[in-house]
Amino acid sequence: MTHTSSTLCVPDSTSIPRHIAIILDGNGRWAQKRHLPRVAGHTKGVEAIHRTVSLCLDRGVEYLTLFAFSSENWRRPEDEVSFLMRLFIAVLEREVAKMHANGIRLRIVGDLSRFNKRIIELAARAEAKTAKNTRMTLTIAANYGGRWDILQATRKIAEEAAARGDIGEIDEERFEQHLAMAYAPEPDLFIRTGGEQRVSNFLLWQLAYTELYFTPSFWPDFDEKVFNEAIASFRHRERRFGRTSAQLASDGGVEADTAAQATEQGLGSLPC
Ligand code: IPE
Ligand code: IPE
Ligand code: MG
Repeated sequence: MTHTSSTLCVPDSTSIPRHIAIILDGNGRWAQKRHLPRVAGHTKGVEAIHRTVSLCLDRGVEYLTLFAFSSENWRRPEDEVSFLMRLFIAVLEREVAKMHANGIRLRIVGDLSRFNKRIIELAARAEAKTAKNTRMTLTIAANYGGRWDILQATRKIAEEAAARGDIGEIDEERFEQHLAMAYAPEPDLFIRTGGEQRVSNFLLWQLAYTELYFTPSFWPDFDEKVFNEAIASFRHRERRFGRTSAQLASDGGVEADTAAQATEQGLGSLPC
């Protein structure tokens, strides 16, 4: 077992989420409301990233994943795309040393092949420099798409099968090992700012049982108050993973159920 499986474990939702995944949306509208160019919202959005990283460090969140650029965002006007690329470079150049000092492991997931050489180089260097840090893993999803992720995992499984001359067992566990974020448990809490209530091709596989939280606040306005509201909402959720409330009410019920499923699937003991 690599990670918490949504079908077998019931993570505790009374405490802080272990993994928070955020679609940081609303930069353009934040700027337009102030009669500024859309890109001013992206610059301001970097400050909200700083605030969020500090909040997560303070509260003991182990994994923070930020959707910074989707595989569909190439469809935006060329100036905006190239501004975002320059901003990405500037952030990687400026911030990695500080992240490293704070014990953050940085991962960048997505199809990086479409980015320019400088970004690819900086991303690889940042990942290598911070690889051994254990306080928090910050993942930036860039040119990421949930469908891309599922397809690239499928391709790897097909390549493995072709090389071995045998398809083997294709189950959730094997599949997950090939996803771009195989190193992280599934998100406990998903937050989308900017008021839209959609997933926009973010972590499609991993969000299967994630608690969803949508806020009208634009990303540049994301602060401790909005963060606390999201956490408070999460704490009121009952994560049932297919079970009934009554089963959850008795710990023994969940453990027995979990153990039974584990035995059924030949997985042995399953720590959450
Ligand atoms: C999110 O803000 C940032 C990126 C997608 C890079 P938007 O740029 O989507 O802002 P709105 O949704 O147009 O306001
Ligand atoms: C989703 O935001 C992607 C990121 C925040 C990187 P968009 O603003 O691009 O999403 P849609 O197009 O409104 O769904
Ligand atoms: Mg948007």
